[in-house]
Amino acid sequence: MKAIVVTDRAAGTAGMKLVERPEPQAAINDVVVQVHASGFTWDELAWAPTWSDRLGRDRTPVIPGHELAGVVTALGYGTTGLSLGQRVFGLTDWTRDGTLAEYVAVEARNLAPLPGDVDFTVGASVVMSGLTAWQGLFEHGRIQAGQSVLVHGAAGTVGSMVTQLAREAGAYVIGTGRAAGRQTALDFGAQEFVDIDNDILEDIRGVDLVFDVLGGDIAKRSAGLIRAGGTLVTIARPTEARPAFGLVVDFVVESDRAQLSEIVQRVRDGRLRANIGNIASLDDAVAAFSPTKRSSGKTIIRVRP
Ligand SMILES: NC(=O)c1ccc[n+]([C@@H]2O[C@H](COP(=O)([O-])OP(=O)(O)OC[C@H]3O[C@@H](n4cnc5c(N)ncnc54)[C@H](OP(=O)(O)O)[C@@H]3O)[C@@H](O)[C@H]2O)c1
Repeated sequence: MKAIVVTDRAAGTAGMKLVERPEPQAAINDVVVQVHASGFTWDELAWAPTWSDRLGRDRTPVIPGHELAGVVTALGYGTTGLSLGQRVFGLTDWTRDGTLAEYVAVEARNLAPLPGDVDFTVGASVVMSGLTAWQGLFEHGRIQAGQSVLVHGAAGTVGSMVTQLAREAGAYVIGTGRAAGRQTALDFGAQEFVDIDNDILEDIRGVDLVFDVLGGDIAKRSAGLIRAGGTLVTIARPTEARPAFGLVVDFVVESDRAQLSEIVQRVRDGRLRANIGNIASLDDAVAAFSPTKRSSGKTIIRVRP
């Protein structure tokens, strides 16, 4: 099969190569999926599990990409819950070969059925962003109707999902980002926008929840914007930021079939809009991930036309 591989951690996306690789086998509880659409996160090659297996052993050459939508072509021994020929979408294990390939082996529990009226490209685009937003808002942030949420990077892939789900849950949403993201953030439902480079973030006070995707200094400054008893949820990395009398949660998203089904139902009935940027073929994937060509929204690789 055709697949993108990386072997050199220091090379970043410039080290991506399109090569021939053996098709994967379905292990116990796995399915093999013929990938139709694949998603890759722009900083994935900097994540430790991209380069090692669950025992910490080097696993290069690595096939990156963790989001997928496609069709089940094989079932492993003991696999239940999915069937041959079924349309599926979901998130693959961080420590196994991923989805920038014609086929991928993935545990069945990490996938959900993709309804026939949802395009594979749309399905793949809401997997990681939708699950991250869902888990950050509802599981870790315990957001309630009437509360306020400050969403960093609100025009971005995750931030646009956080903005939409928070609004739907009845929260008041303040988005942040660079000036160029203002209109996108407002279009996704932010009621206010703070331009991080030109406005004063500290003018915002007393929010119930900050959803941080940027980390570093922005996470630290955000802690002071949270009311007593509020929560800072960050997905950037562990932070030393501490809201006074509040909670800090940093987490890594995990796949969840029930949540994927909730997310795709919202896409079908128009409550959630995918944030898709470039769409490229597998042959053009390396160029599509070139940092000089980053566009806003999720880049999706359409592996099968
Ligand atoms: N822990 C987890 O489970 C988890 C899950 C998903 C993602 N993540 C991580 O979350 C981060 C965001 O992912 P994403 O896919 O949403 O990225 P993205 O699509 O690039 O979105 C980031 C947004 O923030 C804006 N931004 C970036 N740096 C900024 C700055 N210094 N000041 C103001 N705005 C800034 C970006 O604007 P520009 O486009 O103009 O740069 C963009 O709108 C990544 O590091 C990713 O690895 C973690």
